[in-house]
Amino acid sequence: QVKMLTLADGQQIPQEGFGLYKVHGQETMNQAISDAYAAGYRLFDTAQLYKNETEVGVALHRLSVPRDQFFVTTKIAETNQGYQRTIASFKESLRKLQLDVVNLLLIHWPTEKCFFDTWRALEDLKQAGLTRSIGVSNYQMIHLQYLATQAHEMPVLNQIERHPLLNQAPLVKFDHDHQIITQAWSPLGRGKILDNPVLTQIAQVHGKSTAQVILRWHLQTGIAFIPKSIHTTRIRQNLDIYDFRLTDDEMARIDQLNSFHRFGKEPALVYEYNQKW
Ligand code: A2P
Repeated sequence: QVKMLTLADGQQIPQEGFGLYKVHGQETMNQAISDAYAAGYRLFDTAQLYKNETEVGVALHRLSVPRDQFFVTTKIAETNQGYQRTIASFKESLRKLQLDVVNLLLIHWPTEKCFFDTWRALEDLKQAGLTRSIGVSNYQMIHLQYLATQAHEMPVLNQIERHPLLNQAPLVKFDHDHQIITQAWSPLGRGKILDNPVLTQIAQVHGKSTAQVILRWHLQTGIAFIPKSIHTTRIRQNLDIYDFRLTDDEMARIDQLNSFHRFGKEPALVYEYNQKW
């Protein structure tokens, strides 16, 4: 039932995916991935930084489903940026994941060092057929504009922290206007906003959990999102959001919860870019 979105390069991506940040231990990984697949998730999101690509590879291998039945994203860690390191570390990621090709490769965080070199490596890895699509994560408008000055092709996706306390409306619009799909990480605010009274009230009206209300809000905004859970009931619950609809008024009330609160770190400052640019 998960809707597919079409990226600017023509590839398809499930709108709702499964986040693997902080999923550790082979047993836990096997259970989470097999529960998620059985529930209907087809996108699995990992990163070099998560230090779990090997476990993800084993768990996917155990699933034993055709390669075209699942979508894998990984990300180049800040410490692996630069042309050569990006290429070498990504090949290591492929080996750990036991894959010949990933669906999506992202630069995990914008950094001043190697800003264009790392992107050039991603363009070349795509050309070489080792990743189907390329994108970025945690880029703000200024980073995307700066990248546009030298990129041969632009990112098709920008994965950013987004939840009701940080709705990122201007960046979501900017991405959209530039054919970049926004994908929300920590869509549930790391699970720390589930007792918010506005969300609780809306949840009661629909007979849903606050987590389901938040995910439905992401869905109706039209962006992609990747909730994480290691609990079977929650893994299923987070996909059970396709049988109700938030009203315009409820969407607006959730939008109004925006308080610019980040649970993750702030993307790198851009003063240096401005100076060089
Ligand atoms: P757990 O993995 O123990 O289920 P985010 O995706 O925003 O980072 O949020 C992930 C956090 O939210 C995790 O701590 C996860 O805990 C928790 N979580 C995920 N889904 C639900 C849910 N449906 N109800 C309550 N907590 C949830």
